[in-house]
Amino acid sequence: MEYVHYSVMKEEVKHYLVPPLDRPSVMVDCTTGEGGHTHMMLSEYPNLKVYGLDCDIHIQEKAKTRMKEFGDRFIPVHTWFNDYFDDYQGEKVDLVLFDLGISIFHYAESDRGFSFKKEEKLDMRLNDESTLTAAMVVNSYSEEDLANVIYKYGEERYSRRIAKAICERRTEKEIETSSDLEDIIFKSVPATYKHGRIHPATRSFQALRIEVNKELDRIEPALRGAVKALNPGGRIAVITFHSLEDRIVKWTFKDLAKKCTCPPEQLQCTCGGKAAIKILTKKPLVASDDENKMNPPSRSAKLRVIEKL
Ligand SMILES: C[S@@+](CC[C@H](N)C(=O)[O-])C[C@H]1O[C@@H](n2cnc3c(N)ncnc32)[C@H](O)[C@@H]1O
Repeated sequence: MEYVHYSVMKEEVKHYLVPPLDRPSVMVDCTTGEGGHTHMMLSEYPNLKVYGLDCDIHIQEKAKTRMKEFGDRFIPVHTWFNDYFDDYQGEKVDLVLFDLGISIFHYAESDRGFSFKKEEKLDMRLNDESTLTAAMVVNSYSEEDLANVIYKYGEERYSRRIAKAICERRTEKEIETSSDLEDIIFKSVPATYKHGRIHPATRSFQALRIEVNKELDRIEPALRGAVKALNPGGRIAVITFHSLEDRIVKWTFKDLAKKCTCPPEQLQCTCGGKAAIKILTKKPLVASDDENKMNPPSRSAKLRVIEKL
């Protein structure tokens, strides 16, 4: 089987995520995808077992095939990562990895309309069990709601123009495919924006994907749940690909690393609070120049790591 995804910042993940070597240890890969990171960890540590989560059952099949050589040291779980940690009662965990977003598999092979370079049905669901599709968003949201989604999750400065163009087009005919949507967006933006650094549909497609899968809403509860599931000394590494994700990770970790939770106007601490975690990367790590040359999307990757106290 061919694996199309390039796993980012593998060396840095390997450096920070070292399991205890004197006993059986447990890792949760919250975003297993095709399993590049998980394969590296299972190959490196014979006493490690990995719970490999993914909300996408199709990509999980690829990971299962890839991980066959490790037998029952790889346990696939089809779930959203926030659901997995909600009221978690499983065994204590030593290492957790989040490699957020989607895989090259989704653009190249999933046939779900993630790429504006292809003619595919506008679906964008990562999980077949979800009901909202990208086609439903573009054909049923009000112009104002659409503009807000594109602005908030795509940080797209032409969100209003794009939303207006979508709503005008859909009065003639339902918008069904990724290339229909790309065409509407391309025609709606100013000429100077059409041939800029990124394709003018990039941000809107990202926004729709985030809206359909509620991607940002899942991060903070999953991080808090993962911290609870960790053994003391256990670590969480998170790789993000845009500022919207990174901001959530940064502030959630800052909050968990705070000792006192008294209101700021209170002069003396009465909560006796203890920090739950220590932040190991004061500034996020970025990929090396060599990696960026080999895999340009690594340029936007940021890695943050914490340790449970
Ligand atoms: C960037 S890829 C992971 C690549 C992987 N680390 C590797 O090295 O091959 C992210 C994966 O996480 C999954 N995913 C995204 N959000 C998720 C969520 N909230 N819960 C579970 N899986 C999620 C996607 O379906 C995708 O397969």
